[in-house]
Amino acid sequence: MRISLNILAFLLLILHQSNGQITPNLSIGSTFTAGNNVSLLSSSEDFAFGFYPLSASLYLVGIWFNKIQERTLIWSANRDSPAETGSTISLTSGGQLVLNYANGSIQPIYNGAARWGFIQDDGNFVLSDSSLRKVWESFNSPTDTLLPGQIMLPTGKLYSNSNSGGNSKYSRGKFMLEMQADGKLVLSAYHFADTGYWLSSENPQGNSEVNLVFNQRNASLYLVKGTNNNTFFSFPWNVPNPVEDYYHRATLDSFGNFQQYAYHKTNGSNWIRVGKIPSEPCMVNAVCGAYGLCSSNDNETVNCDCLPSYVFLDPSNPTNGCHPETMINFCADISTGNFTIAAIKDSDMPYKEVGDYEIYPDVDEEGCKKVVMEDCYAMAASLVNRTCYKKRTPILNARKTSMTKGSISFIKVPSNSATDGISTKKKSNTRAHLTAGLITSSSLAVLFGALAFYYHPAPRRLVRPEWNPNSSRIGINFREFTYKELHEITNGFSKQLGKGASAKVYFGNLKLKDVQVEIAVKRMEDVAEPREKVFMTELKIIGRTHHKNLVKLLGFCIEDNHFLLVYELMKNGALSDFLFKEEMLPIWSHRTEMALGIARGLLYLHEECDSPIIHCDIKPQNVLLDSKYNAKISDFGLSKLLKKDQTRTDTCARGTVGYLAPEWLKNAPITPKVDIFSFGVMLLEITCGRRHIELSRVEEEREDEEGDDLLLVNWVTGCVRSGRIDKLARSDPEVLNDIKRLERFVKVGLWCVHPDPTLRPSMKMVMQMLEGTIEVGVPPMLDQ
Ligand SMILES: *[C@@H]1O[C@H](CO)[C@@H](O)[C@H](O)[C@H]1NC(C)=O
Ligand SMILES: *[C@@H]1O[C@H](CO)[C@@H](O)[C@H](O)[C@H]1NC(C)=O
Ligand SMILES: *[C@@H]1O[C@H](CO)[C@@H](O)[C@H](O)[C@H]1NC(C)=O
Ligand SMILES: *[C@@H]1O[C@H](CO)[C@@H](O)[C@H](O)[C@H]1NC(C)=O
Ligand SMILES: *[C@@H]1O[C@H](CO)[C@@H](O)[C@H](O)[C@H]1NC(C)=O
Ligand SMILES: *[C@@H]1O[C@H](CO)[C@@H](O)[C@H](O)[C@H]1NC(C)=O
Ligand SMILES: *[C@@H]1O[C@H](CO)[C@@H](O)[C@H](O)[C@H]1NC(C)=O
Ligand SMILES: *[C@@H]1O[C@H](CO)[C@@H](O)[C@H](O)[C@H]1NC(C)=O
Ligand SMILES: *[C@@H]1O[C@H](CO)[C@@H](O)[C@H](O)[C@H]1NC(C)=O
Ligand SMILES: *[C@@H]1O[C@H](CO)[C@@H](O)[C@H](O)[C@H]1NC(C)=O
Repeated sequence: MRISLNILAFLLLILHQSNGQITPNLSIGSTFTAGNNVSLLSSSEDFAFGFYPLSASLYLVGIWFNKIQERTLIWSANRDSPAETGSTISLTSGGQLVLNYANGSIQPIYNGAARWGFIQDDGNFVLSDSSLRKVWESFNSPTDTLLPGQIMLPTGKLYSNSNSGGNSKYSRGKFMLEMQADGKLVLSAYHFADTGYWLSSENPQGNSEVNLVFNQRNASLYLVKGTNNNTFFSFPWNVPNPVEDYYHRATLDSFGNFQQYAYHKTNGSNWIRVGKIPSEPCMVNAVCGAYGLCSSNDNETVNCDCLPSYVFLDPSNPTNGCHPETMINFCADISTGNFTIAAIKDSDMPYKEVGDYEIYPDVDEEGCKKVVMEDCYAMAASLVNRTCYKKRTPILNARKTSMTKGSISFIKVPSNSATDGISTKKKSNTRAHLTAGLITSSSLAVLFGALAFYYHPAPRRLVRPEWNPNSSRIGINFREFTYKELHEITNGFSKQLGKGASAKVYFGNLKLKDVQVEIAVKRMEDVAEPREKVFMTELKIIGRTHHKNLVKLLGFCIEDNHFLLVYELMKNGALSDFLFKEEMLPIWSHRTEMALGIARGLLYLHEECDSPIIHCDIKPQNVLLDSKYNAKISDFGLSKLLKKDQTRTDTCARGTVGYLAPEWLKNAPITPKVDIFSFGVMLLEITCGRRHIELSRVEEEREDEEGDDLLLVNWVTGCVRSGRIDKLARSDPEVLNDIKRLERFVKVGLWCVHPDPTLRPSMKMVMQMLEGTIEVGVPPMLDQ
């Protein structure tokens, strides 16, 4: 009897372990490894912490419901970069909690000095010091989910999962729930200048210190004013009883809905929804992307279509939005009048504060239609309760909901966009072209560049004559490498510096006689046609340039299917890595020097080369910093070389949302002024140390400002208009001591972002204004 009991215990133990149910606490020196099925369990075993399997070989460090079938993930430390089998989590001897990727990268999760780590029964993973005081908890840095007992403090945020399929299912998506410092709880499509599609009611007791509470006892969600525990808003949702028989969670889903769920602990087979906001799925802003149209038959699922004459950017992913099927310049004389106006009944395109550029009260259908027909720049308008709203592009939030009954949307449709065989073919070409543009512009910061080697006296081989005859067309004497050479130089492409959708960048060490040069090798990924085009464009354009504020090419390699570019290493990476982090923001004198450097580089491209070059994708991600923090423009994959005497072009891949000049979206001709616009946005970012679109609004900035400060441009305009330039300095004494220059820089920035390209200054004028050699006039938008 005793023996069999022991055997039973043994068997239980085996079973237990094979499911990975080992429940030690984490202590100094503890490590566990992805792929070993080992995790930390809470004492009830309801929750587990460890490596959550994403696929056969990829894992997220996370917390999940351990007892229910689907092991719902509720928190993750590395949602955007899954770890491979063999990666480890460990509590180091110094007490830091780190994720060691199998490839050698290290991601700190907690950087202080902890002694113990354990998962509580409420799903909170806690690190404590030797006297068991909490030093860190996962509850304070949620990802997309809140659990009972969790409180979201002011400025706390949830970000939805992208649900983009495959291994990026849990990566950060496009929606955010923020407990704002002003006391409002807001759901927004944070990528866009979105003021929010759901906002909690005003707090009657004043704004500050409001917390979102997920009550542990009754599983209800409400807002309280922190200082006096006064509840002033509750979600009116009926939680199933008895509360303790259920698991509960509240999650911001990948379609932008904030929903509370319950799951019966013993009998449950799926999560039951308790409540959700907003009430209809198409009330979520930008849920179908730019130029998409959202509808829903059942208030549950989202159907994304394109507006008439627009086609999907990615047909397999309709929520990514659409683009024009054919590019037409309605403002060019010849095609004027060659369009129709499509009307979509019971729909609207609401885009508060940002989206309407003219409003016509008291008009009828015909009147609103006429508004779109007579303005060659207008692409759409909507008629709501006899008021016609002319829309800015890109058109966002086109939708049909119970709220849009009776409203009408009008869309300008080119009359030759009929779908016959030929135009279908054209359509897919356009799509491939645009996709290529998007792939390059969404590349991550690429850490490459060049300078010293270019001037190096070491002998360099000229382009080999036997190389195919087109090489002479590129016409420059940098070096051609063989693939084998580059393989050796980069030690078999072993050290990756950066990665984008179309290219990866590797570290290399080039030996030249007795000197060593550190280089960056950009290797195009296998994306077939666009890769070659981007590669050739970059090679041709960068090969012609020679300026200290542009990255310099050392060589290239084209062999079989390999396309590589060789640059000297830019030690400090991309400007974007410094600009938007408070603790890394370069000091004012460095920032002004960088702005001037970038301006010099652009001036050279526009006015000092043989023929003008439009960069087309100016943004902080494409400005690299060398070891002395000199700024250099990089990434010429989208650039456009104008012929001699040519000042504009109609064909051009487009850059990055946020830095895009409005004429891109109006199909107007593309001139170097598109770079001026992007430079203007970036200049304001560099000057103010803030992103062009930022939703984490600082309370003090809002107090006496009725203007909307979501958009950097609006914030700057508001401060300049009210004579409070000092606010832009954000209490930095160095900036305050140089307030004249600050004023000059922001005014130049505002001139550069003028919607009318002809009113934007040339790069030469920008340079002179920045340097103070000519006066900066009052920017036009301040006159109003
Ligand atoms: C883990 O640590 C906590 C806090 O010290 C303690 O309450 C719990 O019993 C420990 N669990 C195990 C399995 O050691
Ligand atoms: C982990 O668990 C899964 C299923 O529970 C099993 O298929 C796999 O073999 C286990 N792996 C290890 C290393 O124990
Ligand atoms: C290692 O892998 C992670 C996750 O995929 C990635 O973020 C990181 O950049 C990689 N590091 C190196 C040096 O390749
Ligand atoms: C839940 O408990 C809190 C605090 O006791 C209370 O303010 C709130 O009204 C309760 N909610 C419900 C739905 O009972
Ligand atoms: C507010 O609630 C917290 C936690 O429930 C409690 O510790 C605190 O004493 C309360 N404060 C007041 C003023 O009631
Ligand atoms: C759960 O199942 C048990 C037995 O099957 C049943 O007695 C009980 O009523 C069920 N509870 C719920 C909430 O369905
Ligand atoms: C969707 O919900 C709204 C508001 O709750 C309601 O007015 C509308 O009739 C619903 N539509 C459908 C198709 O159920
Ligand atoms: C429509 O406009 C009229 C006045 O122009 C106003 O009285 C009415 O409330 C509005 N209706 C809606 C639904 O906004
Ligand atoms: C207008 O469109 C038609 C095709 O519908 C085309 O044949 C014609 O050339 C266009 N006219 C102008 C002026 O562009
Ligand atoms: C190079 O020239 C060949 C024919 O000489 C041509 O087929 C090919 O498209 C050219 N490649 C480029 C990139 O211009």
